[in-house]
Amino acid sequence: YKEDPKFPENFMWGASSAAWQVEGGVAEGGRTPAMIDINSTKKKPYADNSIAADHFHRYKEDVALMAECGFSSYRFSLSWSRIIPHSDGKVNPEGIKFYNGLIDELIKNNITPIVTIYHYDLPVWVYEELGGWRSRKTIDAFEHLCKVCFENFGDRVKYWLSLNEQNMQICYGHWLGTSVGCTDWEREKWDINHIMNLCHAKAVIRCHEMVEGGKIGPVPGYVPIYPKTCNPGDQIAAMNAEELTQKIWNDTYVYGEYSNFVKKYWETHDIHPDIRPEDLELMKKAKIDFISVNCYRSNTAYESKIDSERQEYGLNKFGIKGQMQWPNVPGEYALCTNPYVEYTDWDWEIDPQAMRYSLRYLWNHYRLPMMITENGFGANETKDADGQVHDTARIEFLRDQIYQVGLAIEDGCEVIAYNPWSFTDLLSTGNGIKKRYGLVYIDTTDDELVNCKDVSELSMKRIKKDSYYWYSKLIKSNGKDW
Ligand code: BG6
Repeated sequence: YKEDPKFPENFMWGASSAAWQVEGGVAEGGRTPAMIDINSTKKKPYADNSIAADHFHRYKEDVALMAECGFSSYRFSLSWSRIIPHSDGKVNPEGIKFYNGLIDELIKNNITPIVTIYHYDLPVWVYEELGGWRSRKTIDAFEHLCKVCFENFGDRVKYWLSLNEQNMQICYGHWLGTSVGCTDWEREKWDINHIMNLCHAKAVIRCHEMVEGGKIGPVPGYVPIYPKTCNPGDQIAAMNAEELTQKIWNDTYVYGEYSNFVKKYWETHDIHPDIRPEDLELMKKAKIDFISVNCYRSNTAYESKIDSERQEYGLNKFGIKGQMQWPNVPGEYALCTNPYVEYTDWDWEIDPQAMRYSLRYLWNHYRLPMMITENGFGANETKDADGQVHDTARIEFLRDQIYQVGLAIEDGCEVIAYNPWSFTDLLSTGNGIKKRYGLVYIDTTDDELVNCKDVSELSMKRIKKDSYYWYSKLIKSNGKDW
């Protein structure tokens, strides 16, 4: 690697997490259950989220490790049911205290907090008593959450993220639990999506009103889609896939309105979401400050005229089928593997140029500053005989990805932060702690997490992986020491 590309002087380097995947302590400090807790208990043989990485008890130790690594930012999410545990809307002082502790610890260590308001963990009370994402009552409850967060943390938190990967929550509704309670998901998901858009809009508007100097953006899960061949039909299929998996969301965030493409799609599929004139006014008012990009991989699409065609990915190394692949949309596109890239243990494309592509694409379309809030390498890792974790493949992955971020910056994209997933190992969305992403190893396994009576029985020791040391050198040199 050459010294170039250059990163801006005030570039923020850190890492990322989400409350339910890292905190644990699910029944402590006044937190009530979230729907994802229930969803995660079903994903046997992997651990549920009751202990996760035990960050709830060890956040000070974790922040100390971040500081030692040289972090200037840390992106994490707030647990809604820790802050507002019941439908009476009362604020839980213990929840506020926990997040105040974390935020203060970060600031003390010169680490800028980047805070996601919602990352997949809908409180059970919102589902049971309000009707969850299917109900407009949830918009008020979400707005109340936003106000509580801005009021309590807005003096120190200036970077806010609204909803994590709304596009994934809709495209993978079954996987991520968004579809719970729905009987006709293909139709209902567009109402849910609209409600989420209104929640996002409320968050943006309230943030600007309440947080002095506050900036806020959405967090799309961005996956570039390449055409399989230069057959024009494949190109159109790739554009269709792009529209239906991401552009619908990104256009709405930026322009505050639904695109003609999606309106036409609804019309031809006889879908009629409940969209009211006042909703559209609200969406228009919500002007975002940046786009927060989660980018891990790429996809490849081809023209498929066969309605029943379904993508076959087979089993991965662990005998798991259908790893988070986008579903095909008959008549619009089908997806396939890409012979030009390698794949992770979990069959995700290893495609560094997808990062440059994504940043270029989003910059060209929207001209908004971007921060990377997720990017990473999920792998099956264990300690070596020397007790250390030599994660050479992760170093290679991150190096290649960061290099492409640098190239995108040289291309003219405005990128302000890089926060890969994740700081410590944590629970993956569906594969427990076995699918490890961390720069720091958590000394436990799914078996231990499932079988222990209490976290006190477990080591949960933090072991810096080789990638931690490598990343530390890189970020302390602001991207010069590869
Ligand atoms: C992102 C999510 O899409 O991908 C995270 O925001 C998630 O919550 C990450 O953990 C990696 O996906 P997975 O399925 O490997 O955990």
